[in-house]
Amino acid sequence: MLQRTSALILAAGQGTRMKSALPKVLHPVAGRPLIHFPVRAALEAGCAEVVVVVGHGREQVEAYLASAFDPAKVRCAVQKEQRGTGDAAAAGLAKVDSKSTHVLIFYGDVPLIRSKDVAEVVLRLEEDKAATLSLATCELENPFGYGRVMRNGAGDIVEIREQKDLSSDAERAVREINPGVYAAPVSFLRDALASLTPNNAQGEYYLTDIVSFAVSKNLRVTHAAAVPDVMDGVNDREQLAAADRRMIARIQEKLRKRGVTIRDSARIEDGVEVGQDTVIECGAVLRGATRVGANALVDVGCVLTDAIVADGATLKPYSVLSEARVGTKAHIGPFSHLRPESLIGDEAHVGNFVETKKTRMERGSKANHLAYLGDGIIGEGANVGAGTIFCNYDGFQKHVTTIGKNAFIGSDSQLVAPITIGEGAYVATGTTVTRDVPADALAISRVKQENKEGYASRLRAKLKAAKEAKKG
Ligand code: UD1
Ligand code: MG
Repeated sequence: MLQRTSALILAAGQGTRMKSALPKVLHPVAGRPLIHFPVRAALEAGCAEVVVVVGHGREQVEAYLASAFDPAKVRCAVQKEQRGTGDAAAAGLAKVDSKSTHVLIFYGDVPLIRSKDVAEVVLRLEEDKAATLSLATCELENPFGYGRVMRNGAGDIVEIREQKDLSSDAERAVREINPGVYAAPVSFLRDALASLTPNNAQGEYYLTDIVSFAVSKNLRVTHAAAVPDVMDGVNDREQLAAADRRMIARIQEKLRKRGVTIRDSARIEDGVEVGQDTVIECGAVLRGATRVGANALVDVGCVLTDAIVADGATLKPYSVLSEARVGTKAHIGPFSHLRPESLIGDEAHVGNFVETKKTRMERGSKANHLAYLGDGIIGEGANVGAGTIFCNYDGFQKHVTTIGKNAFIGSDSQLVAPITIGEGAYVATGTTVTRDVPADALAISRVKQENKEGYASRLRAKLKAAKEAKKG
């Protein structure tokens, strides 16, 4: 049945309580706009297509959905004016593929909802053949704010009544609520939505009134028991924080089950992959398309964005990697900064206060302390000393520094690009290299050292006298 079901996700509301210029459904949860998760749940459940009803901030929401999902599967319908959830559903229904026989409707601000939560509501219609309308329900300790599920003496669902339309304490005491997931045949929904009127406390078209419509036509309403907390909506920043916390906890749990050690305060966002026996320490943040292999260590406070780290690599504390790749058994940090297009080879070492950008370091090469290595190629086994700078920018263009295999760059050298240091060459400490160095050559550019015997005490005496003369 799911293959013939279109999902309608309602996301046109303003989200006033977020107090934000950004549409509510684009606020991130675990690194993705929150609309991502309901759409993914519907696709994973096996729905034929997803129609997202957009309105407030629609250009931004549409642009995000087009970038993140297959446009053949995920489309948008526009609700021009936000006149209630029933009106939004009608706008979506008009766009549903004519091949679909059933429609699943739920809300776009429930990021924790999973594919099985929505699939169950649809599958109830298969199990309970006499039923026309299926909806999720659950009991809450504190049902305040939710639509209540009203049942008759025989225990059948007869109506959903919104909080603002409850008229007695007995009604307010009803703890069975409507989490907002519905499934029904297209034909029924067409009639039911056409029958809605804004005849209620909020003057809105309520989607929930399709329940009393079904009952008035003697059609059976069935329900699926929902897990309460996965249905929690996000309406303000506090609920956004709660959803984010729980999503991160879910990701941690999934990875731990696969054999990853993750300290509680590490943050691994949706989409990140981590291999077995890797340890992710406190305060590390892994986001975007980051992939870390097996047996690696991501130590305290590292921040990885779209980084690829191979098996057995060690990232020591507070290293920052963005769009960088690190090879097998390489050592990075502490305090390394690997910027986009840094390719650190197998067993290479990048140490503290070293910044790389668009630089390839081949196997076993080393830059252990205090260096800027931009636009470079560093050959296998080469050693770049402390304080080395690749002078890659002339104010107009970037130029490449190439260092051959097993070359040695002495500390505090400047390599003025474009420049090539040949294989096995040796750059003496403190050299400013402005011309290519042939293989196996020594490059040295220094003023010759002179030692003046006994000069230090004469100099001190002279300086002291000058100071006293000034005090005078
Ligand atoms: C709704 C249900 C309520 C249920 C609760 C669960 C109705 C009338 N009530 O109430 O029974 O317990 O959700 O969370 O449906 N939206 C539109 N267009 C509109 C209005 C809303 O697209 O004109 C979208 C919103 O963007 C949101 C969703 O529909 O994603 C729900 O709207 P909201 O105003 O939050 O409904 P609730 O009052 O929470
Ligand atoms: Mg709501």
